Amino acid sequence: MISVVILGNGNVATHLYSAFSKALNINVTQINSRKLSTIPSSDVTIIAVSDDAIRQVSQEIGDRKGLIMHTSGAVDINAIAGKRKGVFYPLQSFTKNAIINFNEIPFCLETSHKDDFNLLENVAKSIGKKIYQIDSEQRKKLHVAAVFVNNFSNHMYTIANDICEKNDVPFEILYPLIEETAKKAQSISPKDAQTGPAKRNDVQTIQNHLEQLNLQQQKIYQLLTKSIQNSIE
Ligand SMILES: NC(=O)c1ccc[n+]([C@@H]2O[C@H](COP(=O)([O-])OP(=O)(O)OC[C@H]3O[C@@H](n4cnc5c(N)ncnc54)[C@H](OP(=O)(O)O)[C@@H]3O)[C@@H](O)[C@H]2O)c1
Repeated sequence: MISVVILGNGNVATHLYSAFSKALNINVTQINSRKLSTIPSSDVTIIAVSDDAIRQVSQEIGDRKGLIMHTSGAVDINAIAGKRKGVFYPLQSFTKNAIINFNEIPFCLETSHKDDFNLLENVAKSIGKKIYQIDSEQRKKLHVAAVFVNNFSNHMYTIANDICEKNDVPFEILYPLIEETAKKAQSISPKDAQTGPAKRNDVQTIQNHLEQLNLQQQKIYQLLTKSIQNSIE
């Protein structure tokens, strides 16, 4: 049995607590990260708080026994004050009330001591299947890549939704295109999957599109068009 203490009540802490509660080899306790006076001892402590609060919470709990880790994609392992440090970064977008399938989520793991990796791997395997050993430098790069894949793509959907709403066109007409774009980026490379007026250099179509957009949208359209064209050899 591995004892796990989770500090925090946010999106990630809530989902991790619920998943670990169902794991047969884990004994999990969740603690409010604002009330850290009595934390039971544990093999593993997971600091699942906002990036900017990780260092402070880690200092507050001090060098307690066991492996201490955070769940961030963007914060260095050395933000943890304890001797046995780790990172337990689940690479997915978490929202408290949305259902999550941990078997599909990649866990990016790192430990400061080689000997601790096994323990961390066992903790991850108790709730998931996709385990990757990723160091802090790689994780920071991966996090930037994830912002492009998720946050920026989603913002593109928001712009498309606005355009549809303004013109009384149901956004759902674009659902199959959204699905196909994500599928093709995986089945062939994103670069090979690229199509559209920028790739073809259809100057007149590009001009027509720009005339339909507001100033902010025009800037985004022009920047992305240039980026697509620059990426063509
Ligand atoms: N959400 C995601 O999709 C996702 C995915 C992978 C990794 N992560 C990482 O997981 C961590 C938690 O993210 P989240 O989305 O779960 O955040 P969240 O829902 O915003 O929750 C943040 C938690 O941190 C606590 N907190 C904030 N400032 C604090 C402070 N100064 N002292 C003590 N506690 C503090 C909050 O307490 P209060 O509620 O009392 O403010 C809350 O429990 C972050 O490092 C994030 O990068 C998030």
